[in-house]
Amino acid sequence: MTPSTDRAVLHALADNPAWLTTCADWALSTWGASWGHSPARAKAWLTNLLANEAETMFVAAIAEQAVGMAGIETYDLAARRDLSPWLANVFVAPAFRRRGIATALVAAVENWAWDRGHNRLYLFTPDQVAFYESRGWHLTGQTDRHNGALVSIMQKAAPAL
Ligand SMILES: CC(C)(COP(=O)(O)OP(=O)(O)OC[C@H]1O[C@@H](n2cnc3c(N)ncnc32)[C@H](O)[C@@H]1OP(=O)(O)O)[C@@H](O)C(=O)NCCC(=O)NCCS
Repeated sequence: MTPSTDRAVLHALADNPAWLTTCADWALSTWGASWGHSPARAKAWLTNLLANEAETMFVAAIAEQAVGMAGIETYDLAARRDLSPWLANVFVAPAFRRRGIATALVAAVENWAWDRGHNRLYLFTPDQVAFYESRGWHLTGQTDRHNGALVSIMQKAAPAL
């Protein structure tokens, strides 16, 4: 029998600020160059994000342990402030991957955006195009560079009413 604690529950980070340090650490270890590899800057970024009503971060937790995150940011790719908002900071701790947690987090972010009247979301990724394509995202055909890497810009439209 699978213990019920195996199932991830999604929370808004704003309601569970104790996980802020964990999320900042994940972001720093995965995309550290964005904050100059500074823990203080990564925490400040997340604190500001939570204070901005137009942005949010969801955390997946199992037995009250944070195991993944995904959020929405007004701007993400510095050179593309013409596009907004962005699905960003999708991360699942390695031991908890391949059990649908990122899929659930991404769906939560999408629904949060659609509920607020956004009709399109954007993301950029250096290497996860196939993951997002199989979840209804499409390449825009545009690329850019981020922290020295070539990234693909993808988009997803809100479901038709
Ligand atoms: C990319 C990443 C977020 C995926 O997280 P994840 O929780 O493993 O994602 P999911 O489990 O939802 O889906 C991953 C695969 O596992 C499969 N899967 C889901 N549940 C499964 C299960 N119970 N058993 C076996 N496989 C399963 C999915 O089908 C999926 O494969 P697919 O894309 O071919 O459909 C994670 O690998 C990660 O954090 N990577 C580092 C950071 C990163 O690259 N983030 C994305 C930035 S753009």
